[in-house]
Amino acid sequence: MALAGESRHGMWSNKWLFVLAAAGSAVGLGNIWKFPYIAGENGGGAFVLVYLACVFLIGIPIMMSEVLIGRHGRQSPINAVRSLVAKSKASSFWVLIGWMGVLAGFLILSFYAVIAGWALHYGWLMGVGTFQNADGAMAGATFDAFLANPWMLLGYQTLFMVVTVWIVSRGVIKGLETAIRWFMPLLFVLLLVLLGYGITSGGFPEAVDFMFAFNWDALSWDGVLVAMGQAFFTLSLGMGAIMAYGAYLPDDASIPGTVTTIALLDTFVAVAAGLVVFSIVFANDLDPSSGPGLMFVTIPLALGSLPAGEIFGVVFFVLVTFAAITSAISLTEPALAYLVEEYNAKRGRVAISLGVICWILGIGSVLSFNVWADVYVVGSLTIFDFFDYVSQNIMLPLGGLLIVLFAAFVLPRELVRRQIGFDGGVAEILWLLLARVVAPLGVLAVFVYTLYQSFA
Ligand code: PHE
Repeated sequence: MALAGESRHGMWSNKWLFVLAAAGSAVGLGNIWKFPYIAGENGGGAFVLVYLACVFLIGIPIMMSEVLIGRHGRQSPINAVRSLVAKSKASSFWVLIGWMGVLAGFLILSFYAVIAGWALHYGWLMGVGTFQNADGAMAGATFDAFLANPWMLLGYQTLFMVVTVWIVSRGVIKGLETAIRWFMPLLFVLLLVLLGYGITSGGFPEAVDFMFAFNWDALSWDGVLVAMGQAFFTLSLGMGAIMAYGAYLPDDASIPGTVTTIALLDTFVAVAAGLVVFSIVFANDLDPSSGPGLMFVTIPLALGSLPAGEIFGVVFFVLVTFAAITSAISLTEPALAYLVEEYNAKRGRVAISLGVICWILGIGSVLSFNVWADVYVVGSLTIFDFFDYVSQNIMLPLGGLLIVLFAAFVLPRELVRRQIGFDGGVAEILWLLLARVVAPLGVLAVFVYTLYQSFA
């Protein structure tokens, strides 16, 4: 039986491990693979500004809400919200937060594993020297040929899922603590090396200009929705991942402090990855809006021209895979913790069942890149596009909206103050302003306006 005030799933040994684990969840394919390519597709500058505003004005209050709900409940998101609903005599409607999060986790992990599989394959390709002195055309053709092969994609997706399930079944805390202590810092170092390369590649000034010159004309309303969705996706918000990790956070850790550190780390990685990728894009006359393949064309191109590029290449893609694993683990935690609590099931068994479901769902995404490339779920969205769009742009912001409303309006004020450690100063006023006004209205405004635009 767990001690009062501790979670039955274990506890982080200290607040830094929570920061590392949550940063491990946040930093992943979203930062390194996704951010550069969607910033490129949406014209850079203005998109990046909207994204940054969403991270700090909407993301931070929502992340604080997730951590405080999780830490108060010390259970899976579904049960944490349930216990708070009972305590606040609120409607059981709010438990929807937990269920929707579980569903979003499945959808995301299904395609996430496919892309992580690409990184695995690229680690191999780099190691065998495929990209030695390659040019842009060759790097592009290699990527296209790889995507055209469903069996390869399936094989790597399967491998990634097996490793994830294996780590998850050992328990988050045991499985993660060792991995993140080493890989997160290494990833930072390698990004800095690549940034150094980017700065000397000749494309750096153009990259800075592309990312930070506010060209509003390039941004559509759908682009604004994508920027907001990306802020949620990259911070792992809106589906309970951070809430689940918050349940294992010691009582004496400061929520505003840890949350701000996580958001800053995550933003640093995304901006650095963007600068690296776009420097290479401009140094080689590539197209910044070339889509999901952007990282898989630019990074091999850069590393292929460096001395010892093979070694750097292997290390880079191995680290990207690790960053993806630490995110994938957090995608399963809300569902896993819930099933373990509800049915007293063994972690390992639950992990395998969840893994199989995500694996099957992921086959749809594998096929969207080849055999089913012309099969559209709605409009011009393939299965991969659809899962990606619905989870990132609709489910996560909606989940985040409900979470912040629940924390800011439904929970007893005293409980929130105690969890966050407010004593009535400016910080509390800032929290109320962000959590009650800016974050909910921000999400709502973007939702309503994009809906209006798509029907008008
Ligand atoms: N934040 C992760 C990334 O950027 C993805 C993720 C989304 C993880 C939602 C958990 C929850 O890669």
